[in-house]
Amino acid sequence: MTDSKPYTIRWGILATGGIAQKFTKDLVLDPSTRSVSDVSHTVVAAASRSQERAQEFLTSCGCPSTAKAYGDYASLAADPDVDIVYVATPHSHHYQNARLCLEAGKHVLCEKALTVNAAQARKLVEIARERKVFLMEAQWTRYFPLAVELRKMVSEGKIGTVHRVFADLSIGDSGTPEAKWGVENRMVNVDLAGGAMLDLGIYSILWVFQFLYHIQPPQHRLPPNVVSQLTKYPNTGADELTSLIMSFPPLNSHGIATTGLRVSFDPDNKGTAGPAVRIQGTKGEIQVFGPIFRPTRFRVIPLEGFTSVEFADETREIPGQGMFWEADECARCLRDGKLESETLPLEESLVMMDVMDQVRQQNGLVYPEKIETLEYPLPGF
Ligand SMILES: NC(=O)c1ccc[n+]([C@@H]2O[C@H](COP(=O)([O-])OP(=O)(O)OC[C@H]3O[C@@H](n4cnc5c(N)ncnc54)[C@H](OP(=O)(O)O)[C@@H]3O)[C@@H](O)[C@H]2O)c1
Repeated sequence: MTDSKPYTIRWGILATGGIAQKFTKDLVLDPSTRSVSDVSHTVVAAASRSQERAQEFLTSCGCPSTAKAYGDYASLAADPDVDIVYVATPHSHHYQNARLCLEAGKHVLCEKALTVNAAQARKLVEIARERKVFLMEAQWTRYFPLAVELRKMVSEGKIGTVHRVFADLSIGDSGTPEAKWGVENRMVNVDLAGGAMLDLGIYSILWVFQFLYHIQPPQHRLPPNVVSQLTKYPNTGADELTSLIMSFPPLNSHGIATTGLRVSFDPDNKGTAGPAVRIQGTKGEIQVFGPIFRPTRFRVIPLEGFTSVEFADETREIPGQGMFWEADECARCLRDGKLESETLPLEESLVMMDVMDQVRQQNGLVYPEKIETLEYPLPGF
């Protein structure tokens, strides 16, 4: 006889900004709406730099009335009723905030980019392993059924050997970046590790990694060589247009990942510009339509003589953003006693952070010492 009760995990939400709201609203949805019955979620606390904001957040996200509202992050990390903390501060703060929770023995799902630099990410991984707690970077896109299906198709050889992947996430629009983002905005503010690459480019990089790195057997996964160009936002020095060419051993397959704040992957907002990801193999190509953080459609174009087929993700009709897929992965990992996700092993997050470090080194992009440092704890975080 099987136990039909879902395995439920108790979440604490650290910060109450835009993505924390989307994630938390997804968490409180009934998992049966996405045909999930083995795991479920409950939000038991939220923390903000303002207790009042934490309370408003819990109410507006539809969390249980028993959930606790904290006016500082340390109280959340110390709450014995919290199993796992979702860290949703700007990336500048991930190292300090995720470390706070790991040191307190909490499991952590930390927003992307995991940290500002690879050294900070390595330190978090080291602490998570020492404390034997779960840690995962919130690359939610990887957990979409569509992404799972594409990795399966490509690893089964549907388009042959993949030699090149193009991926773009650029969100320029008719307004100039200066009009859209003032210097204080986290997208361009270097004190908050602003810039296109850590915020958007990571999606282009993760699409490349899924097919040129992740689907290799673990013992064959090798970091790419990287060359890059980066243009700085005039008013702050954050990156506003960044392009990488990565060459992945052993075939030296190329991954071209681009990101920008001045041009768009979808300028007319109607999809006219075509796919945002192209996965090119010896037997054909798979094209994925953007936005690549939440893709809903792809097309398979086999070699000449065959008909191309277009697929829509049926799960796109499900209520919510789709952030619940990664939350479900966290719950299953905790249930099964896994300290990391096989879909995004910590090692892979570290290699991706190394790639972004190299791009910054090649182009002279350094963030303020207070957010690059390994020193912990720092006041003001
Ligand atoms: N997965 C996705 O699709 C996705 C989408 C957007 C962003 N993100 C990631 O999520 C993180 C947060 O992004 P967001 O768009 O939610 O940002 P946001 O709306 O600006 O929210 C960030 C929150 O962090 C807290 N915070 C603490 N110290 C701060 C400081 N010095 N300045 C500003 N905020 C501070 C604030 O919460 P309190 O005031 O409550 O303390 C604030 O509301 C980033 O790492 C970003 O890359 C992911």
